[in-house]
Amino acid sequence: MPEKGLPTPAPFDQQQRRRRTNISLLRVLSLVSLVAVGTYVTLLSNLPSPKSTSSIPINAAEILDKCANLNVTPGPPKDFYSRSQSDRFEQGTKSVLIKNAKIWTGGKNGTEVIERGDVLIDKGIIKAIGRVDESRVLEEYGFVEKIDANAAWLSPGIVDLHSHLGVASLPFLQGASDTDSLKGLVQPWLRSLDGLNTHDDTYRLSISGGVTTALILPGSANSIGGQAFVIKLRPTSEKSPSSMLLEPPFSFNGSGIEPFNPPRWRQLKQACGEFPSQIYSGTRMDNIWSFREGYETARKIKVQQDDFCSAALSGDWGTIGGSSAKFPEDLQWEALVDVLRGRVKIQNHCYEAVDLDGIIRLTNEFGFKIAAFHHAHETYLVPELLKKMFGGEPPAAALFSTGARYKREAYRGSEFAPKILAENGLAVVMKSDHPLLDSRYLLHEAQQAHYFGLPDNLALAAVTTTPAKVMGQDHRIGYVKEGYDADLVLWDSHPLSLGATPKQVFIDGIAQLEHPHVISDKPLKSQKAPETPDWEEEARAAVQWDGLPPLGPKESFRTGSDGQVVMFVNVESMYARSGGRVVQVFEDETERSLDEKGTANGVVLVRDGEVICSSLIGKECLEKLERLKETAEIQVKVVDLEGGSLAPGLVSYGSALGLTHITSESSTNDGAVINPLTGNVPSILRESVVRAVDGLMFESRNALLAYRSGVTSAITAPVSSGFLSGLSTAFSTGAPHGLAEGAILKETAALHASVSMSASGASVGTQVGALRKVLLGEKKGELGKAVQRVLDGVIPLVVTVNSADIMASLIHLKKEVEDTLDEGIKIRMTFDKAAEAHLVAKEIAEAGVGVVVSPVRALPMAWEQRRILAGPPLTEDTAITKLLKHNVTVGIGALDTWDVGNARFDAAWISLDSSGLISKADALSLASTNLEKLLGTEGEGENTDWVATRGGSLLDYEAKVAGVVSSRRGVVDLF
Ligand SMILES: *[C@@H]1O[C@H](CO)[C@@H](O)[C@H](O)[C@H]1NC(C)=O
Ligand SMILES: *[C@@H]1O[C@H](CO)[C@@H](O)[C@H](O)[C@H]1NC(C)=O
Ligand SMILES: *[C@@H]1O[C@H](CO)[C@@H](O)[C@H](O)[C@H]1NC(C)=O
Repeated sequence: MPEKGLPTPAPFDQQQRRRRTNISLLRVLSLVSLVAVGTYVTLLSNLPSPKSTSSIPINAAEILDKCANLNVTPGPPKDFYSRSQSDRFEQGTKSVLIKNAKIWTGGKNGTEVIERGDVLIDKGIIKAIGRVDESRVLEEYGFVEKIDANAAWLSPGIVDLHSHLGVASLPFLQGASDTDSLKGLVQPWLRSLDGLNTHDDTYRLSISGGVTTALILPGSANSIGGQAFVIKLRPTSEKSPSSMLLEPPFSFNGSGIEPFNPPRWRQLKQACGEFPSQIYSGTRMDNIWSFREGYETARKIKVQQDDFCSAALSGDWGTIGGSSAKFPEDLQWEALVDVLRGRVKIQNHCYEAVDLDGIIRLTNEFGFKIAAFHHAHETYLVPELLKKMFGGEPPAAALFSTGARYKREAYRGSEFAPKILAENGLAVVMKSDHPLLDSRYLLHEAQQAHYFGLPDNLALAAVTTTPAKVMGQDHRIGYVKEGYDADLVLWDSHPLSLGATPKQVFIDGIAQLEHPHVISDKPLKSQKAPETPDWEEEARAAVQWDGLPPLGPKESFRTGSDGQVVMFVNVESMYARSGGRVVQVFEDETERSLDEKGTANGVVLVRDGEVICSSLIGKECLEKLERLKETAEIQVKVVDLEGGSLAPGLVSYGSALGLTHITSESSTNDGAVINPLTGNVPSILRESVVRAVDGLMFESRNALLAYRSGVTSAITAPVSSGFLSGLSTAFSTGAPHGLAEGAILKETAALHASVSMSASGASVGTQVGALRKVLLGEKKGELGKAVQRVLDGVIPLVVTVNSADIMASLIHLKKEVEDTLDEGIKIRMTFDKAAEAHLVAKEIAEAGVGVVVSPVRALPMAWEQRRILAGPPLTEDTAITKLLKHNVTVGIGALDTWDVGNARFDAAWISLDSSGLISKADALSLASTNLEKLLGTEGEGENTDWVATRGGSLLDYEAKVAGVVSSRRGVVDLF
């Protein structure tokens, strides 16, 4: 309760003593400080002289300062705009002149581009932009380092509005987990700064993706989780958390107000909905009440302060305690009082209409604003509600691009949310929630938002200028502009093109990449923003159906019996399966002007789901069609692909697709297999083996979205709580149920196990030992039969493993088993996840082991994954290229079910990153034929579907999946 929390006056005699010594000083101070604050000069003239000096508190000057400052809007110091050196300048930083860059400045609503410009940076700030006269620079600075950008894109540094870098440190260790305090629902007094670990492995990684600034938020376990802090990611010479802060509020070190200057912006983390409600065994009602209770406490203090100050400022000390007058405040609640004074940017984790509504009402009840709703999956459904926020200006929405449906409150999330919000005039921010999404790839979130319809100017702004504004730092970051912080990224391609990678990153004028590996062979067209597909209809449907639009095909017809032939025209490229891999059949390399776009001559004929003719010279197939018509009754469905492509359907492996609808809702899931090493396996289950096919469920939204994105089959293993999980299955993502024609490609694929240092309850030695016993011990029951098939080399043994040391043990085990058995038998072994596989790439190759890499872009989540190969620009190789160079069969996996549909872009990105090592066809193999080999579904369980894309190939950001041809299921689906 506020009254109890307020400081009690000091004993009278102490005050008397202090007053006697300082009384004359007081009058001087009070005059000086009031005069000095230009804006408060008027106060002075209104200030009646105190009735008698004995009734004034000893710190009256300080109190008057505080009172005069109470409602000053935060901002930079007054002399900020005339600065010639950054407050973050590191001694010894060289001046740099970047020549000939193509500059996206962030200005003019994100539309301003300087086609050829120079940027001069010095003392941590941008000194000049445009055409910079070199000789004059040399005259003035003596020496500058010169970088010829060679027409490369230059942008402001990426700004992440939602990060847990340093507080949820990687690799994850219990000793450095400082995001969520579980000591109460409302804790505005906590500060992320107090947990900021300077040794998180991912600072370096995120910088290598162009991230220069991040807002470090406490977690979302509480309604009010604590104060957040803005940091720059670079290492500082002081090596302290405090030295990483960007314009910290005075409260960070208790330095009090600066009488000459406004206070700095503060940040507060709030959360509503599932997390704070459920973690405290409550409900949404408890969540909102906890806010109201907290804000009421703050409001009472604020009223006391305002009353107190109006008395103090009018010299009426007598009514507020005379010489023992004390400014009413409370360290625990001061941050929340500051919220009510409009001096705190609130970053509010909030998903659903019900929660957004609760918070909007709260802002009006107590009179404060929300800077941004984060995650905000339903904001696109309620733009008018957001406009009702206190103050009338709606908050921004900080979103993921395609991350959705992972919990109930994210179920109605849409990839079109950024587009729809922007159309409703709301500010859109893309954020990482690092390490949930790796902030190194935050730019990719903007690229995806752009792909799904957010205009290019707003997409780039969504990770630069907009978050800078939302955190109250747009006076110094988020733009390439004279006087701004020298936080810049030089890109190897247009920042909205897939796989854009920094060539160099500057923070405070300091180059962050020491020996960047620059990919030199980026395709020419990647130098401009992709022309993205038309999504109007899909976006409208998302709103119309409250986030759950039907995902089935627009048109679907059976092939076969009725002699239906589908003729794809205007086909620019084609890929096909051949000899266990994907090869390019043709590609029209003709350079086309804009108005000639989509005028390729290629034609592909499909009958009964089989390609019967494909040619870049369309005439050949047309003639074939004529000949066919002579012999049979043929109906022809013509599909114009507008310069599109045909490719084999992709395959997914690694997530729980097919066994779950909403990952964190147990009643929507198949559940987890009991860990036989640590759990109580009922006797009826001994010697049995769990088969994923028995738990399969179809038509989950993630499966249907995967299908619409060209991933037409998936191989899924039973979800396991450790060690032995069971037999995986291969199924069709587009099938309606398990009895439908072609729904199941292969009932049982591979036998799955895992060995991990993070497994609770069983040591690594125990796990490997148990695996040895399973393989070499007596073979009994269903499990025995499955193991025998592994030993006969019929099905693969897939082991989820990350540590290179454990991989070594498993390779030993493989050899031991093979030596014990009949000669010539080779176990088919696949390592899954395999973060550290590159360390033993040669040995993996020699042992004949295959590898499914996931996540495809490495992140050192756990200790056993810490030795990742980061890839460009930090290293030339990735684990994938390193393994491929050793001729290891490599597939790419997905971790989350919502991510499965992104396989086409993962594959394309891998190809772009590989400096020519991985062709487009090879990239498609990684996400199809290779996975089938590694999971034992080649041949019989093969995915023979075709995916047609409009406006480009499956690997293109400009293309959209137009249809799927499935002979297995006997259908052609058009979207
Ligand atoms: C900014 O750009 C967007 C999209 O291009 C446009 O809709 C919006 O009206 C622009 N805003 C201003 C203030 O020009
Ligand atoms: C707090 O930090 C500011 C900014 O770095 C500095 O100027 C001030 O002296 C510090 N105050 C204290 C009390 O340490
Ligand atoms: C990989 O295979 C190719 C082609 O068969 C061969 O030339 C090359 O030497 C092999 N590389 C390694 C590291 O074994």
